[in-house]
Amino acid sequence: MGNIKVNLNNASAWIDAGALDNYQEKLKESMDAIVNKTGRGRDFLGWVELPQVVDASLLQKIEASAQLMARKSEIFVVTGIGGSYLGARAVIEALKHHFDVLLPGRKNKSPLVLYAGQNLSEDYLADLLDVLDDKDYSLAVISKSGTTTEPAVAFRILKNHLEKKYGVEEAANRIIAITDKEKGALKQLADKLGYQTYVVPDDVGGRYSVLSPVGLLPVAVAGFDIEKLLSGARDMREHLLATPAMEQNPAALYAAARNVLYRSGKKIEVMVNYLPALTYFTEWWKQLYGESEGKEGKGIFPAGVTNTTDLHSMGQYIQEGERIIFETVLSVERVNGRLQIPHDDEDLDRLNYLEGKNLHDVNRVAETATTLAHVDGGVPNIRIEIPELNEYYLGQLIYFFEYACALSGYLLGINPFDQPGVEAYKKNMFALLGKPGFENEKRSLEERFGI
Ligand code: PA5
Repeated sequence: MGNIKVNLNNASAWIDAGALDNYQEKLKESMDAIVNKTGRGRDFLGWVELPQVVDASLLQKIEASAQLMARKSEIFVVTGIGGSYLGARAVIEALKHHFDVLLPGRKNKSPLVLYAGQNLSEDYLADLLDVLDDKDYSLAVISKSGTTTEPAVAFRILKNHLEKKYGVEEAANRIIAITDKEKGALKQLADKLGYQTYVVPDDVGGRYSVLSPVGLLPVAVAGFDIEKLLSGARDMREHLLATPAMEQNPAALYAAARNVLYRSGKKIEVMVNYLPALTYFTEWWKQLYGESEGKEGKGIFPAGVTNTTDLHSMGQYIQEGERIIFETVLSVERVNGRLQIPHDDEDLDRLNYLEGKNLHDVNRVAETATTLAHVDGGVPNIRIEIPELNEYYLGQLIYFFEYACALSGYLLGINPFDQPGVEAYKKNMFALLGKPGFENEKRSLEERFGI
């Protein structure tokens, strides 16, 4: 059963029923192509089955590894980039206490998860090492290819730090490698040094891998319930695969709606949330959709805002700038309900009209008010309705967006599972850094750039 709903009421002025209906046939073909593995990128459809493939024994193994790491560590460093880190971060940030690092009694809690290898900032990594000098820590190095420069460099530095701190043998007990089952430098290194390893399945691309050990292990270390996450994904999978009719299938509806809007000139989709906890979920979504659809000169540009913060920065543009935008709101119905606006006898701030209201109620009104204003300003609005933020509904949401992304990519006529464009910068960087085998490219790039 799927609890995530797609509401097109505030996009209907731009999406007539006929335009959606035109996608029925193509959607049906795309759904069949996903299930029967006959479409473009068919070798990368392992994510469709992931909620099933991660069985009880793998889950137990992951939980045991997570507990072991948690017992040893105040900090757990997730080292990876792109799909090898964003999924885990999206889930952890959505569920954790906003100020967990400052909570009293931190020592008895699950390790704080920090991230490395997602940038090449020297100061970032040096600052992280400053913190790790005085903390017990362990880490996961996550790279499907096992050769990506950013996490590989960060890992070399962290491994060196860990070995100096604990000795080579104990350092090896504090490292988990998640990579390809046989290829890549990381796999060879992990085997040689005796690290515990988990496999990124061959047929699962990085950005579709959050429900594999790539996402599950860090989420479990952070103390969240990965069985519930998978159970949400399983329920959503069952619902989407058993529901061919677009009207009842939220992923099909979302995929078709965004393609109708794209064809009408709405080339930018802004994912809007009203909870800062969802900022990294938006980052995960941006990567999933940007890397899946932006190719062959096509694709919706995925952007994101966190409101109401960004209503005071990006809100102006969305309201009155170029009319090439549509919005997709992650609308969360319930939060924990812990905070009400108090009465004030003097009412100097004139806010007594809000007394007794939960802050979330005010936030929900801000959402409605903004939706209506933006619709009036010519911005179609798709609402994704989520009952609340917990592992179960996040599992549903992840599977919903993955499935919708595959469908949407097929409707667009591209391969949603490759990323040929990512190689261009890598090739140049290897050449400019002097990697053996790139000598000719190095000369010509340096000449072009005037170095
Ligand atoms: O989605 C993808 O495939 C990419 O974003 C990769 O996850 C990213 O480039 C990292 O690759 P790797 O896991 O091989 O280090």
